Amino acid sequence: MEGELDPLSELRSLSEALRAHAEWHQACGTHALPAETRSSLAEQPPEAIPPVPMPAPPAAPMPAVASAPRAMPVEAPARAAAPVAIPLDPAERQHRLALLAEQVKGCTKCSLHESRTQTVFARGNGSSGLCFVGEGPGADEDAQGFPFVGAAGQLLDRMIAAMGIARDDVYVCNIVKCRPPQNRTPEPDEMSACMPYLTEQLALVEPQVIVALGKTALQGLFGSVESITRVRGRWRLYQGRIAVMPTFHPAYLLRNPAGKREVWADLQLVLKHLGRSVPGKGA
Ligand code: URA
Repeated sequence: MEGELDPLSELRSLSEALRAHAEWHQACGTHALPAETRSSLAEQPPEAIPPVPMPAPPAAPMPAVASAPRAMPVEAPARAAAPVAIPLDPAERQHRLALLAEQVKGCTKCSLHESRTQTVFARGNGSSGLCFVGEGPGADEDAQGFPFVGAAGQLLDRMIAAMGIARDDVYVCNIVKCRPPQNRTPEPDEMSACMPYLTEQLALVEPQVIVALGKTALQGLFGSVESITRVRGRWRLYQGRIAVMPTFHPAYLLRNPAGKREVWADLQLVLKHLGRSVPGKGA
């Protein structure tokens, strides 16, 4: 995490956040936020949400070819995830994530290592409680070594800013850590080779909420092939304990800007689940 901001930088970052918020809403065609009632979770007071069972030991989910969802959508994920074991303090978490990133750097488990410039592990704050999971690095990410730094990443940044959250105060990672050639979708064998890294990454990060960006993220996390259009906006649980909100991938939004409205509705549910106010809706 970064240190304290001086007042001028704070003002600058506030005005950037405001501008990003305005741009995002302009693109969504919304100024005030739509009164969404799609998810019963959003309407539930936190006390109504049942306690979560203890987590199953982390198993690496395998991307499957089956089309039936294995993980059922949940109406009421736990507001706070049960800890895996003893919760890590931020410094220890950062240290262990750095060790894992080093391990990933040397990975040759699938053929994607042959064409990568470098591995792309994560960016942001592993202790923020909010994690975005995408598909895999593209050309910009492969060149720079960080996820979501290209055009889709800039849109993701605007989405995060519109949530009233600083860009680097969320954790961002991908299903696969190496760029698939020509930015193609990762193959199931590449996903299953890489998933143990994400499983461990998420066990260290212990996010309160994961936002699954697009179909591949969903497939990696749940091992099921589902239409993102059908399942977005509906809570489900990862490993029985972490609330996951599936939504459209920002790259899809670049091609289909009309989908921003739905994504914004999904992100509002995330904010509510995190107990944060929705910017622009009044405190
Ligand atoms: N798309 C992704 O899914 N991940 C990235 O890191 C960049 C683009």
